[in-house]
Amino acid sequence: MHPLIQQGSAWSLTETGTDKEQIKQNETLFALANGHIGTRGSLEEASRTPDYSYSEGTLMNGFYDTEPITYGEWAYGYATHHQTVIPLPNGKRIEISLDGETVDLETGETTNHKRTLDLKKGMLTRSFTWENAVQVEIERFVSYDYPELLAQRIQITPLVSNKELTVKLVLDDLAEMGREAKGETDVDPRIKQLTARRFDSQKLESSMGKMLHITTHNTGLHALVGAMTCAGDEWTLSIEKDASETYALQTKADQTVELERFIGYSPIFHKKEEASQEVETMEILFDVIKGLGYDQVRAKHVYTMEKFWALSDVEIDGDEALQVGLRFNIFHLNQAAGRDGKTNMSAKGLSGEGYEGHYFWDTEMYMLPFFLYTQPETARKLLQYRHSILPQARKRAREMAIKKGALFAWRTINGEEASAYYPAGTAQVHINADIAHAVYAYIQATDDEVFAYNEGLEILVETARFWVNYGHFDERREGAFVLNTVTGPDEYTAIVNNNFYTNLMAKHNLDYALETVMKAIAKECGLDVLAEIGFEKEELEQWAEASEKMFLPYDKKTKLTMQDDSFFHKKVWDFDNTPAKKYPLLLHYHPLTIYRHQVCKQADTVLAQFLFSWEFSTDQKARDYAYYEAVTTHDSSLSRSVFGMMASDIGDLDKAYSYFMDTALMDITDMQANTKDGVHAANMGGTWMSMIYGFAGLRVYDDTVHFTPQLPKQWQRIAFTIQFKDREIGVTITPKDTRYILREGKPLTIYHNGAPRHIVNHKK
Ligand code: BGC
Repeated sequence: MHPLIQQGSAWSLTETGTDKEQIKQNETLFALANGHIGTRGSLEEASRTPDYSYSEGTLMNGFYDTEPITYGEWAYGYATHHQTVIPLPNGKRIEISLDGETVDLETGETTNHKRTLDLKKGMLTRSFTWENAVQVEIERFVSYDYPELLAQRIQITPLVSNKELTVKLVLDDLAEMGREAKGETDVDPRIKQLTARRFDSQKLESSMGKMLHITTHNTGLHALVGAMTCAGDEWTLSIEKDASETYALQTKADQTVELERFIGYSPIFHKKEEASQEVETMEILFDVIKGLGYDQVRAKHVYTMEKFWALSDVEIDGDEALQVGLRFNIFHLNQAAGRDGKTNMSAKGLSGEGYEGHYFWDTEMYMLPFFLYTQPETARKLLQYRHSILPQARKRAREMAIKKGALFAWRTINGEEASAYYPAGTAQVHINADIAHAVYAYIQATDDEVFAYNEGLEILVETARFWVNYGHFDERREGAFVLNTVTGPDEYTAIVNNNFYTNLMAKHNLDYALETVMKAIAKECGLDVLAEIGFEKEELEQWAEASEKMFLPYDKKTKLTMQDDSFFHKKVWDFDNTPAKKYPLLLHYHPLTIYRHQVCKQADTVLAQFLFSWEFSTDQKARDYAYYEAVTTHDSSLSRSVFGMMASDIGDLDKAYSYFMDTALMDITDMQANTKDGVHAANMGGTWMSMIYGFAGLRVYDDTVHFTPQLPKQWQRIAFTIQFKDREIGVTITPKDTRYILREGKPLTIYHNGAPRHIVNHKK
């Protein structure tokens, strides 16, 4: 068992003791978020005890600043600006003193230090005894009911009488912290320097507590941060300053005293003048919260979490550690998703500043499936974000000399390309097809016609247009449609012709667009959308021809699918003579050294075959799997889950199980050695997919769901729920049989190992 996982406790992670390194890493694992805000699991006194802190911070989804990218040598069309999510004023900072002596891990003997992340309730608690003089218990949660709200309860039990106990609560605007760039992280391209404070703040008057109006330096984004403390009569407000307030009392031994603290982070707004309106809204929120009191707000939160788990839990009988890992991943996935249609899911969720808070293809290909089948309304919002950035994507396509259509940015917050390294950035044009794939999957899973014939239609048409304008029919390849000079998902192979994954995904993108437009015309739905984007009927023929003639590289001699035109002509990487310390390769070899070898950072061809598994024979998939697995380093956290799912697909359950172990526990065990910068959210989605697509074998086609369950021998049972076209279906798989229960919605014929099963809801 991993030290954070305790026997008999399948719903929590527990840290005991005061190990500095563990506490630092747990800033990420114990992060709490709700899609709008996220706060690192740092100690309340972190800014005073830097040895116990890696990167304190609270982040707001979509609250970012920009600065120009400096290139040694510039070329036309390069991304112009960094976009970086910025840490906000930290409202959870607390300083406790006893008779003037600070109570924290550095100042005195701390015993029984324990922190528990309760996944079921969405709650982080911490308790400790200091110098045998006080017992402290602090609880915090980030509310889903009030997305602006972070709540804390501080309970202190003095063990001695007649001492002065003070609690200082700080709304820290980072100015005094002098946040500096951390030199040690500079070389890793996956982390942008942790830079200093990047907003201006102005104190606003409010009767409900402290309020700060913050404005980013360059992007002109505004937000309000407010803090309200609720203290009983036993406390006196002894000192009040701009950013802090200090409460004091005389201790009575064994009598527990309590303070409640609420921090509000408003939605982002764009004009300074809106601040007064936002103050009013925040005051109304604080008023409501005060009226309800901490206990009720907490109870509401716990209830919301229960409802979430009722639809999202995946149970495994037979392995407790895996069970915790899986729940932990589902918990963080849920925390990461923007739900306002204007924000998305960053590669690290809201748990850290790694990858600068950027949104990648990770969302559509790894994280969205979970939402699609458990919270379709959130999946819709995530796709709406993509729709909202279509104007930037169109502009980008023109910059890339593409006459018609749109090209989504490889990594972005505001819709503009933010990748400073185009070979592993802009060149990954597959992102267009990934987004189209997700749109189509959403329509398949929900029958949401309003979305399909509005936002969905527009995205499908604009992405399909991109492909016909990007590629061409190559006479030297008997007129096949080719896509040259692209990078596929595998970032250790860049700028190649005909990446198999890209071409296959583009082919499907063209087909999805064709099918959806034809349906729109037949149903006379979305015709205004088509008119608005200047759709012409001839485009249908162009798409059909490009799809039909799409070149898919295959080596007849070895009967292997080729990752791209050149892959097999390269020398295989010398794995035998590469010591473990040289991984990940990207930190030890020049990109060109990597690019000229057969070596993959992550699943590429295998991912393509997994997504369209019915298009390939099992023999073909098994051959390709064996070949590509041998040259894949899994240096990307997006890799293992795909290999695991494909192992299930080709019937290698032992391998599927072993990959699943790795993915389920990746962040808890710090497998990629960079969890401190944030969780690996795509892998978390990959874990969920491994269960549902991998072991349960879920596929959606012919308007219904198909399952081919296979249970690893280590497990006695798995059970989960999916939403499908306004239905709720419970699935329980045991070695003996599989039961499907329709809990909500109209009857449906589903397929179990290819045979139809009619399911009916017996509930009246
Ligand atoms: C992977 C990409 C991924 C990115 C963000 C990279 O290491 O190679 O596929 O999109 O991380 O998670």
